Amino acid sequence: MSVSKPITRLTVPEIIARKGSQKIVVLTAYTTPIAELLDPHVDILLVGDTVGMVLHGLPSTIGVTLEMMAMHGQAVMRGSSRALVVVDMPFGTYEGSPVDAHRSAVRLMQETGCQAVKLESSKQIAENIQYLTDRGIPVMGHVGLRPQSVHIEGGFKAKGRIDSEREKVLEEARATEQAGAFAIVAEGVSSDLADEITREIHIPIIGIGASPNCDGQVLVIDDMLGLFDWTPKFVRRYANLRETVSRAAQAFADDVRSGRFPDQTETYRFKIKA
Ligand code: KIV
Repeated sequence: MSVSKPITRLTVPEIIARKGSQKIVVLTAYTTPIAELLDPHVDILLVGDTVGMVLHGLPSTIGVTLEMMAMHGQAVMRGSSRALVVVDMPFGTYEGSPVDAHRSAVRLMQETGCQAVKLESSKQIAENIQYLTDRGIPVMGHVGLRPQSVHIEGGFKAKGRIDSEREKVLEEARATEQAGAFAIVAEGVSSDLADEITREIHIPIIGIGASPNCDGQVLVIDDMLGLFDWTPKFVRRYANLRETVSRAAQAFADDVRSGRFPDQTETYRFKIKA
C-alpha cells in the first residue's frame, strides 16, 4: 500500500495502550478555533452531541442530526493535527440495525476524516458495535448516564446507588468491551462503581462525573471554560469566560454609545488579489 501522508495523530492502539500506564485527557470541541487551542494539550478531541445543547441551545441531545455532527466534525478536524478525533453518533442513527449503524458511521468518517465514532452503548446495541468494529470502524462506547435516554429515564440521572443499577451499568460496559470497542466513557456513575468498571474492563475507561481513578477524564469544553451560569456539580471550572465575554461586550457597547469607538479606517487594510 502506498501512503501519501504519514499519520501524525494519536492512534486508537496508542490510546488502548495507555490503560493502566498514562492518563488520557479528553475535551469536547465543536469548532475550528477551539480545536486549534485544545489540540496541543489533549489526547482525544470529542465532537460530542452535547454540541446540540451547548452551541445550538437544544434542551437535550435528541434533536442533534448526522448533518450537524458531520459539520462540526469537519470543523474540528480542520483545527487539529495531533489529537485523535472521535465524533458522536446522534440519536436515531445507529440503534435500529447494524446496517443503519454502519451507514451512519461510514458517512461520519468519510465526511469528516475522523478516526473513530462514539455511541451510547448497552447490551442491545452490542451487536451493532460488533458489526462496526468487524468492519474496521473504531468505536468508543458510553455507559452509565446516557443522555440520549433522557426521556425513558425521566431526566439526566446518575447511576450506581442501587445494586440492580450497578449490575446493569457493569453489563453495559462488559457488552461494549466484548463487541470490540476501544474505550468507554462512563458518565454520572458513583465513584466506587467507576472504580470497579475501570478495574474489570480491559480497555480505557474515560470518566465524566465518575471517579478520578478512571483511565482518563473528559469534560464538556463550554462547562470547564465557565460559559454557563449553571454547570453540573462535578464540573471544575478552569476559567470564567462568561464574565470575560460579558465584560468585553459591555466595553464595546460603551465605546459605541459614547462615541469613543475608534476610527478603524486608518488601521484596516485589505489586501485583495486580482
Ligand atoms: O456528547 C458529549 O459531549 C459527551 C460527553 C459528555 C462525554 O458524550
